[in-house]
Amino acid sequence: MSLAILKVQPAPHLYGSLEVPGDKSISHRCLLFGALAQGVSHFKGLSEGQDVESTAACLRQLGVSISASHDEQGHKITHVTGVGLHGLRATNEPLDCGNSGTTLRLLMGILAAQAFGSTLTGDTSLRRRPMTRVSEPLTTFGAHIELTQERFAPLYIHPPSSSLSGGSYALSVASAQVKSALLLAGFYTREAVCLSGQIQSRDHTEKMLPDFGVKLTTGPSEIVLPTGQKLQGCNFTVPGDPSSAAFWLTAAALIPQSEVTVKNVSLNPTRIGFFEVLKKMGADISWQLTIPQAEPVGNVHLKYRPLTGITLSAADIPYLVDEVPLIALLATQAQGVTTVNGAQELRIKECDRLAAMESNLKAMGVQNWESFEDGFCITGAQALIAADWEAFHDHRVAMVGVLAGLIANNDNSTHRVLGAESMAVSYPGFLKDLETLKGPKA
Ligand code: S3P
Repeated sequence: MSLAILKVQPAPHLYGSLEVPGDKSISHRCLLFGALAQGVSHFKGLSEGQDVESTAACLRQLGVSISASHDEQGHKITHVTGVGLHGLRATNEPLDCGNSGTTLRLLMGILAAQAFGSTLTGDTSLRRRPMTRVSEPLTTFGAHIELTQERFAPLYIHPPSSSLSGGSYALSVASAQVKSALLLAGFYTREAVCLSGQIQSRDHTEKMLPDFGVKLTTGPSEIVLPTGQKLQGCNFTVPGDPSSAAFWLTAAALIPQSEVTVKNVSLNPTRIGFFEVLKKMGADISWQLTIPQAEPVGNVHLKYRPLTGITLSAADIPYLVDEVPLIALLATQAQGVTTVNGAQELRIKECDRLAAMESNLKAMGVQNWESFEDGFCITGAQALIAADWEAFHDHRVAMVGVLAGLIANNDNSTHRVLGAESMAVSYPGFLKDLETLKGPKA
């Protein structure tokens, strides 16, 4: 794909209300759980980003039928005909997970237990991300996975010599992808899968499996998936993605006289760490629950007010891991010092997001960025100057680059986001929604 160069002009203010695309994490899980279920599932509002499309394409290659129609109000409904736990079809071609770590890692959990072998791969970025965090625990269950250079995709999953054992595993990294891969493997294990250690990360797998008729117990220090369970197809409405909503809340927090409402967003407590950070920084933000359910939904409202710096540490990161690049941008505009520690996971996302933010913000004139292996320290407020912003093939870095351009001084230069096409990985309609919010105040 050719690299798109996007010119961004400053915006006077952002105003209005909108809905953002369906939550990406929940959408992946709908497709995967629906595929393994018995019967047909119907999902409303699935993300239409490329990452979720990668999951759908892999599942189709494994013999799962996925189709779509529209309801009377014009909402897209995705229909997944489940093949049951043992109905996936072997494929000789590699399964291409594109840019999507969630697709590859969750599929590892499922495919490690199948009676056929499979190859999983992805784009250049995904092939640089560590896969041992999933292969090692699966190996303790008896899986047989061969990695490139012992760490990376492409990886080949051999059929196990006997059924996977399951049992206890203490997670050493707070990752929902790892946790979910092991729980998915748990549908095929002889013993219950019992996870302890770093289990505090987004909990969509735990929250959604009961909708598919699965029983599991979750506590502050342990998750147990009893053995011998089946999934049943279900109907599920996907709430808006709080990580997509975060862009408009950030923009409104940065541009004076802005006021934005994002409706029907997931208010899952493990996903709203960023809303709480905005509040701690002094933003005039509030959120109201409209649908109290396992995956709660509500509206979020933010009206511009100046911000102050804050300190974040390792315990905060899993609940806002995808929003750290936005926190770096906010920190440049907040009064005082913002320090982020414990964010080393950012170095192994779609790109090294800490390095990407540092180089891009320095290119825009940010002076005193102090860099740590696991975070950064910035003193604000500092003026940003329009510059070339490199997306590094990372959807979130690209979209943060657009927001930076909305507040940049462009007297002597033009702000350009290089590689803007990456935005389609999670938010294909990002620029259209930006235009909507740039409209006149009501
Ligand atoms: C995801 C988990 C997070 C997040 C990713 C989606 C998921 O990764 O960064 O965008 O859907 O499980 P980790 O929890 O593995 O850090």
